Amino acid sequence: MKKLFSVLIAMTMVFSLAACSGGNSSSSGDASSEPSVSSSEPSSTNLETPASSEVPESDAFSSQPDESTEEGETLVAYFSWSGNTQQLAEIIAQETGADLFEIATVTLYTDDYNTLLDVAQQEQGEDARPELNAQVENWDSYDTIFVGYPNWWSDAPMAVYTFLESYDFTRKTLIPFNTSASGGFGRSLTGIEESAAGATILEGLDLTEGELGDAQNRVTTWLDSLGLNG
Ligand SMILES: Cc1cc2nc3c(=O)[nH]c(=O)nc-3n(C[C@H](O)[C@H](O)[C@H](O)COP(=O)(O)O)c2cc1C
Repeated sequence: MKKLFSVLIAMTMVFSLAACSGGNSSSSGDASSEPSVSSSEPSSTNLETPASSEVPESDAFSSQPDESTEEGETLVAYFSWSGNTQQLAEIIAQETGADLFEIATVTLYTDDYNTLLDVAQQEQGEDARPELNAQVENWDSYDTIFVGYPNWWSDAPMAVYTFLESYDFTRKTLIPFNTSASGGFGRSLTGIEESAAGATILEGLDLTEGELGDAQNRVTTWLDSLGLNG
């Protein structure tokens, strides 16, 4: 009897517990509570999904070099007899990180100013193309070429035209610069346009001898205006 009583007590306890847990299960069976459980699972999945799918994708994009937008190198080519244009060329090269190339003739010009005036005038009258002593290596690697020269008789020295006509300027950007006593580019820009066919010619910089003391500032301002300051 005692044993039967114990069994009855035990069964009563089991039913009571079952009743308690049955309340929870009826509440979990409520349709409105199920999405809250199931929605938390996808949201934690959602947190992981973008992290694992986006990172490799953005890595893949950044590691693919786009050759069509790769920039070429910059060259500063200059002719200078007494050093003024060379001074400007060196500042431009330093500011832009460009390579320097001196346009120089096989036959050297005289050191005498008055004799040079005559020689230069004669070359211009003959539309001469004096032979140059060196060539630019890796021309194809440059897409921007600064070309500098002094004003000689209101034009560029003829050696500058030899230089321009020695290379293919198609799809190159040409940026002229000049020094003079007072005449600036003179009529040289027309000649440059003809001799560097195919080039896109940007706004140049011309400084008189009197302005050379302020060359660094003027070059910086000019390059900024072109968006070319390194
Ligand atoms: C042969 C020759 C012709 C020149 N003709 C002119 C000219 O027509 N107008 C002018 O303003 N300066 C003229 N100049 C002065 C130079 O353009 C000026 O001194 C220039 O800054 C020199 O540059 P460089 O030192 O790079 O050679 C001439 C100089 C020389 C040597």
